[in-house]
Amino acid sequence: MTKHEKSWEKRLSGAMDELAVDFVESLSYDRRLYKYDIAGSITHAEMLCEQKLLSRSELAEIKRGLLEIGDEIAAGKFVFDKTQEDIHMAIESALAAKIGEAGKRLHTGRSRNDQVATDIRLWMRDAIETMLGRITSLQLAFVRSAEKYTDDIMPVYTHLQRAQPASIASYLLSFVEMLARDYSRLKDCRDRLNVSPLGSGAVCGSTLPLDREMTARNLGFKDITYNSIDAVSDRDFCAEFIFCCSLISAHLSRLAEDWILFTTSEFSFIRIDDAYCTSSSMMPQKRNPDMLELIRGKTGAVYGSLMAMLTILKGQPLTYNRDLQEDKIHVFKAADTIDACLQMTTAIVSHTAFNTKRIADGLDTGFLDATALAEYLVRKGIPFRQAHGIVGGLVALCEQEGKNKLGELTIEQFQAACDKIEHDVYVTLDPAGVCRAYATKGSAGPESARAQLHYWKGKLKEQ
Ligand code: ARG
Repeated sequence: MTKHEKSWEKRLSGAMDELAVDFVESLSYDRRLYKYDIAGSITHAEMLCEQKLLSRSELAEIKRGLLEIGDEIAAGKFVFDKTQEDIHMAIESALAAKIGEAGKRLHTGRSRNDQVATDIRLWMRDAIETMLGRITSLQLAFVRSAEKYTDDIMPVYTHLQRAQPASIASYLLSFVEMLARDYSRLKDCRDRLNVSPLGSGAVCGSTLPLDREMTARNLGFKDITYNSIDAVSDRDFCAEFIFCCSLISAHLSRLAEDWILFTTSEFSFIRIDDAYCTSSSMMPQKRNPDMLELIRGKTGAVYGSLMAMLTILKGQPLTYNRDLQEDKIHVFKAADTIDACLQMTTAIVSHTAFNTKRIADGLDTGFLDATALAEYLVRKGIPFRQAHGIVGGLVALCEQEGKNKLGELTIEQFQAACDKIEHDVYVTLDPAGVCRAYATKGSAGPESARAQLHYWKGKLKEQ
């Protein structure tokens, strides 16, 4: 067999059409699995030797050949030939060309079906490890920023209308919470995918005495898969991984949307360092938050990958079908996008300052203390529904009288609305005072933010 021949050339007559060669190949994108393919092959060969299906010298030859091929690929010296279809065939045929007979024994008891299922799992385990590290870095960036702004107050919004005052730290730590869920979701995903399909063969296993536990153990899997029919056709973990990426993307996109608004002249809540802004080719004054817009925009591609992966799985008859080759396009795309977005977001969060003075100056608009006033009335014995109505009336009164804040009402006006109101009401009516008065666990005042910061600093150290 010359280098470019395939073993099935005895079965299929004639050369493949050029169009078909291009159409069927995955080498252009699955070559990034090469390290995992080689690790899987070496482990498989060691097991074959242990089971007396390979001699010691054949194993040594195979190992040497595979390691050399790995070095050649790493050094960019390997010539990829698309007629080899995929990375598995490319490596195997290079091995046969390098070491001859022994190379032809490597595929004993194995199919590309269990081989590729093993490779993607090995790749994904590492990809998740990297992603977990990136998430931790971003969480740390939020924590560092939050530490600077614990005692600074900002308005937070519901329906994009000013709602209640909060410590800026609480706002920032809300993203740390989202990312913590992303982190644990990815760990769950890694845990579930960390089982070895190797030894499932093409679909029904093998008549040869393959030691599946041995290969699983040596590749660091926590277990083997227990049904070969499922094992070669299962790509649930790919869909799950892209779903994890999709939620990360959603979280980053929500941050991006907030901060794009916060950079506008209308808000002017934050200033992102020039290094992460662009300008306009026409309007000289512009400082545009393009990085954030791209983080928001790239969410479309990640969701697209999820939809693609789910659709690829839908309606495929059991078991392996070539449709599954497309999995890697979407898995890689989602992973690369999230990797870039997490790094970019970390850089931006680390280089963004809150305009605390400007934010503080604006705290008097929007009646941020209205809910706290209603709760003041509750403490004076008024049923909440009634208190809600009283405060709503007082806000309307302020608007009629052109008053910006409840604290500008006179004590007579307060008492006309409710005779339970006393002079101490004015202490309640100030955003910083409101924040200090938040009493529930997890609330958005500085005291709670400090407790949350303490928790996260300890937690992230272990992570
Ligand atoms: N390149 C293929 C993939 O990624 C490898 C498996 C091919 N198996 C087959 N029976 N044609 O899915």
